[in-house]
Amino acid sequence: MAEILRIGIAGVGTVGASVVRLLAQQDEALRARTGRKVVVSAISARDKAKDRGFDTSAIKFFDDPVALAASEDIDLFVELIGGDEGPARLAVETALKHGKSVVTANKALLAKHGLALAALAEEKRVALAYEASVAGGIPIVKTLREGLAGNSIERVYGILNGTCNYILSKMEMEEMPFDVCLKEAQRLGYAEADPTFDIGGFDTAHKLAILASLAFGTEIDAEAISVEGIEHVTLADLKAAEELGYRIKLLGVAQRTPHGVEQRVHPTMVRKTTSIAQVMGVTNAVTIDADAVHELTLVGPGAGGNATASAVVADIADIARGVRSRPLGLPRAALSKVKRVEMQRHEGGYYIRLAVFDKPGAFAGIATRMAERGISLESIVQRGRGADKTGAPVPVVLITYATTEKLVREALDAIMADGFVAERPQSIRIERE
Ligand code: HSE
Repeated sequence: MAEILRIGIAGVGTVGASVVRLLAQQDEALRARTGRKVVVSAISARDKAKDRGFDTSAIKFFDDPVALAASEDIDLFVELIGGDEGPARLAVETALKHGKSVVTANKALLAKHGLALAALAEEKRVALAYEASVAGGIPIVKTLREGLAGNSIERVYGILNGTCNYILSKMEMEEMPFDVCLKEAQRLGYAEADPTFDIGGFDTAHKLAILASLAFGTEIDAEAISVEGIEHVTLADLKAAEELGYRIKLLGVAQRTPHGVEQRVHPTMVRKTTSIAQVMGVTNAVTIDADAVHELTLVGPGAGGNATASAVVADIADIARGVRSRPLGLPRAALSKVKRVEMQRHEGGYYIRLAVFDKPGAFAGIATRMAERGISLESIVQRGRGADKTGAPVPVVLITYATTEKLVREALDAIMADGFVAERPQSIRIERE
């Protein structure tokens, strides 16, 4: 191996600039750890003239990231452009085709084209490293692929989107409405360019698709994930959860079930005593249930320049050392197909909030509809009473023991048809510990 590793970085925003800074700060240490000198030889960005906070005089500038990816001036291509098509995809493919290793933070690209890119990297015998694409600074890719190689994994789940966790935490702690909290997250720079990616659960789904493949040896398939966002979580739900000993988190969950690997993203009730419930603000966390280690939780910064750059630099260091892990753990051809496990088959407890007309027999009617389907209730609490006692709706919160989604949906439809409730019930799945 040449003594110098020449890298080209496409996309020099917050993360790219942090990568350049970290590489400079850790120059000596990286050389000692890898035996090579890592040099940023070239960059590509939209605006050449922009002050990036570092000296660019010795760095070659490319207007076109694809030209950079193909350039003889670099050995390793770092993609920080973002987006699942366009220049990011083309540049990554070009670099791999030219026999250059790639480091990327692009979860959307991997969720959509990860299989093809992994196959290309295998064919060209180069690395495709993407630690920064999931949970920012948490080394979860390495943990699943290398650290837990001696385990059979049952479930992997986590808080994978800092924006959503920030919003839910702020709503709960400061009793602030959703919109205000979202604006604050955007102001702080956590949210994606289009925040519906965050709040709609799609960013979490991209990350979950990657984790599920690593955990279960399956093909990356974001289409097999059931996705719900946090738009419908209300302050009333967060307050009720808190009083019942729960928190509401947007989780990405992939678990083995008798029907296959269930993959889902949705607001979830987690007991306040669990590690994951303690994770507040923009922080991410991933818990893995596996046979040998039992349970492992990694907590850390999921976004931000330095945290993401930390993961990018770790991948660069691996490649400098000559480490070339198979991108998805198994050879591409050995990954098994996933089939979507429909949410109707999901088994677990449920939190249900109903706006019940305050009249005799309503509770009994609701409990009957549940009992008819064998749904057992852990608690049923009426929260206050209509002020004028004229039968105005009052909030009633039910917690069920484990049942199936199908039965819960049927029971709620029947309760609505009976006319006991004033609006569509809210239901939130409870994640088992
Ligand atoms: N928008 C993402 C988040 C950034 O909020 O976590 C990191 O992928």
